[in-house]
Amino acid sequence: MGDCFIQKSDKKFLLIKHAAELVTCAGPAPKAGAAMAEMGIITDGALLAQDGKIIWVGKTDELPEVDQAQCEIVDAAGRCVLPGFVDSHTHLVFGGYRADEFFWRLGGLPYLEILERGGGILNTVKATRQATKEELKALGRQRLDAMLAMGVTTVEGKSGYGLDSETELRQLAVMDELNREHPVDVVPTFMGAHAIPPDYKGRTDEYVDFIIDEVLPAVAEQGVAVFCDVFCEKGIFSIEQSRRILTAAKALGLKAKLHADEIVSLGGAELAADLGACSADHLLQASDAGISALGTSGTVATILPMTAFCLREPYARARTMIDSGTAVALATDYNPGSCFSHSIPLVAALAATQLGMTAAEIVNALTINGAAAVGAAHRVGSLEVGKEADLVLLEYPSHQFLVYHAGMNIVSKVIKHGKVVWDKIC
Ligand code: NIG
Ligand code: FE
Repeated sequence: MGDCFIQKSDKKFLLIKHAAELVTCAGPAPKAGAAMAEMGIITDGALLAQDGKIIWVGKTDELPEVDQAQCEIVDAAGRCVLPGFVDSHTHLVFGGYRADEFFWRLGGLPYLEILERGGGILNTVKATRQATKEELKALGRQRLDAMLAMGVTTVEGKSGYGLDSETELRQLAVMDELNREHPVDVVPTFMGAHAIPPDYKGRTDEYVDFIIDEVLPAVAEQGVAVFCDVFCEKGIFSIEQSRRILTAAKALGLKAKLHADEIVSLGGAELAADLGACSADHLLQASDAGISALGTSGTVATILPMTAFCLREPYARARTMIDSGTAVALATDYNPGSCFSHSIPLVAALAATQLGMTAAEIVNALTINGAAAVGAAHRVGSLEVGKEADLVLLEYPSHQFLVYHAGMNIVSKVIKHGKVVWDKIC
């Protein structure tokens, strides 16, 4: 007995039946404001998938005729079935760890000051530059395994621990290979503008030129990133520098994301909205104007409550965002510095108790809105005909247990592309 990955079935169909609750999260994406309350629950629910794609969703007693011999059958009695979680903000490929820093921060040393002194992200840059592609890939694979066990079927991952062409491209190549080889889909983001490397200290504009003139074109040519992200923060990249990088990235066909208003209110939310970014992330210090700009722009506000928890910073104003019509996604921000955790259960618990989000809003934020935040809502994030059969079964009959069984991993099975790929007990 124990947690394990299982041999994939070779059946053409997947049939789920008798789900106590089948939570579809169906509807236009992203769900913004009041629409985040709608989960589309089907009781005694069933789902049929063929060759990895959903072909029917409804009540078990209305299931269409299907040759059961060709089906992998999953009896979901007593279980809640949800779309696979989309962790839409992580930094999962890195070398080394920074445990000491966690305790320095508890002792009062601010996150940005550690970075200013040459530690923080720059420590991880040193370790990542030294790591081989194989080492990074082995670490990445272990991390994806652990994420899958928590029900994550799609994850976004950022580069940004190289800050030179070679290492940035190595991180992206690792994600590209993991995406092909591992059941979890990996959406790669180029984040060369994550910090200013030591050799460019005091010359941020020149580093921005280097990113725009040398690294971005290579990333675009190799086709190894879908998104470009920038750490827009006081003392890191300014609004204007961030705008330059993301405008250049968009011209090369990459989509925009932004680490916005994480520690200091700089106007990052407004910039993300103005650029039509797919998401603006963190937003702990987003201004009223920034929040209303997000609400009207369609940019997803990606909230990362575990980072606020680990940094002991005030939480983002998710309630205000949702009440003013914004689409909110929740993600982990898994990284070796500000948040060394990929715990979906902890995200859910903090979202309920600290952000004031309802269980329905949390479910949508972890599924369909996460999918929208990585530009994949046409493919994943909800249980609808035509989408990937990416699903999670919980050990309990209701989605409420995600929050109520606080901090516990209650995932019992994970299905990716119509195949059971992880089972709690086998
Ligand atoms: O999202 N703030 C910038 N980037 C990450 C932290 C990266 C690190 O500390 O290694 C974040 O919090
Ligand atoms: Fe981040």
